[in-house]
Amino acid sequence: MWGVATSAYQVEGAVDEDGRGPSIWDTFSRTAGKIRGGHTGDVACDHYHRFEEDVALMAELGVRAYRFSVAWPRIQPDGRGPANQRGLDHYRRLLDALNRRGIVPVPTLYHWDLPQALEDAGGWPSRSTAEAFAEYASIVYSALGSEAPYWITLNEPWVSAWLGYGAGIHAPGVTDDALALAATHHLLLADGWARQVMAGPGEVGISLNIQPARPATDDPEDVRVARLADLHMNVLYLDPLFGHGYPLELVEHYRAVSDFEFVREGDLEVIARPLDFLGVNYYRIHTVTADPARGQRAEELPGALGAWSFAPPGVPVTSMDWPIEPFGLSDLLVGLHRDYAPAKILVTENGAAFEDELGPDGTIHDAERISFLRGHIEAAHEAIEAYVPLGGFFVWSLLDNFEWGHGYHQRFGLVHVDFQTQARTPKASAHWYAEVAHTGSLPA
Ligand code: FCB
Repeated sequence: MWGVATSAYQVEGAVDEDGRGPSIWDTFSRTAGKIRGGHTGDVACDHYHRFEEDVALMAELGVRAYRFSVAWPRIQPDGRGPANQRGLDHYRRLLDALNRRGIVPVPTLYHWDLPQALEDAGGWPSRSTAEAFAEYASIVYSALGSEAPYWITLNEPWVSAWLGYGAGIHAPGVTDDALALAATHHLLLADGWARQVMAGPGEVGISLNIQPARPATDDPEDVRVARLADLHMNVLYLDPLFGHGYPLELVEHYRAVSDFEFVREGDLEVIARPLDFLGVNYYRIHTVTADPARGQRAEELPGALGAWSFAPPGVPVTSMDWPIEPFGLSDLLVGLHRDYAPAKILVTENGAAFEDELGPDGTIHDAERISFLRGHIEAAHEAIEAYVPLGGFFVWSLLDNFEWGHGYHQRFGLVHVDFQTQARTPKASAHWYAEVAHTGSLPA
């Protein structure tokens, strides 16, 4: 299944329309100093109004599947209570448009836009948010469940918990590791409860951003913190989802911060309910050191691990400064298959931002993006050859869009968007990917 991906807040705009309530990203992006250039998602790609045109574009390009997200505040403006019919209608129209054109819809229920009212009542650190999510999942699924064959509960709970409540660089901008740990548990519980109520037609999974961590050197301290980083970013989510509970080494590490008393009897069984598929978002490897002086522009990882990540010298980087190491994808897919054996895996995001330049003829020759995708698709193919049950690959993103704290400054699209005119121009990578989707093989 060759697809493309977007998320509601990053592309929709229309934040005040048809009864949508405010989300934590509306609040955060309107807070001075949080987003580069003071950008917001108020208009974004105007996808809310232009989805017909965007679906037609996908069809023209021969894209076979579309992963998008449902905005919770469009369905329940205050995060609780009865459904807002106009919100549901919007997504029914989008699903219809996709199904009419034979594009497989893959909706995600939560891509970070928590209704602000729920944040005001405690947000993800509070168990009641997980309860509200189960209610929301049941509303969307009973109205639209039969319209899509694959559903994703949460996108990247690590990012929600640790960038939102730990590092504070994402909404809601809280910096408290104890709260980030509680958020982690309630996100996983929300996923488990949602998968319980979504036990009808279709396959249901969760998308994790697996971030491989390797020690920068064989210094025992680098080895130790790289191991901690792997536990923190990956195992903390994978182990409970696959029935192994929280990794004890990490629970021990956080002893001074949290006693994990938010875990109640029966929670781990709910979380360990078998997944129909695991979604994997892969962008980069972290080269990890305990000594930031060892790496250029080393960035501290969240979670007070004493761990810094940097791009190793000589490795090319994207405009996000993320090192380009496609073999990380095959290694991690093979590792997941070996260690957890999910029934099926979908790569639900992979892609890159570059400084795209509009040529004099109005076209964009994004050769770097093509070579990035080629490398990663080859890596995915290697995993298939190693018997990994890989069912699909989704490029992030269909469109240039609102890249969170970077505003509109980082362009991940296969399709260029002029944010003044909303004109869409497929880049060379879009045509290249269309050929991949069409032939199922890599162009020479
Ligand atoms: C992922 C997010 C997605 C996008 C890409 C670049 O972590 O899921 O929304 O921002 O990164």
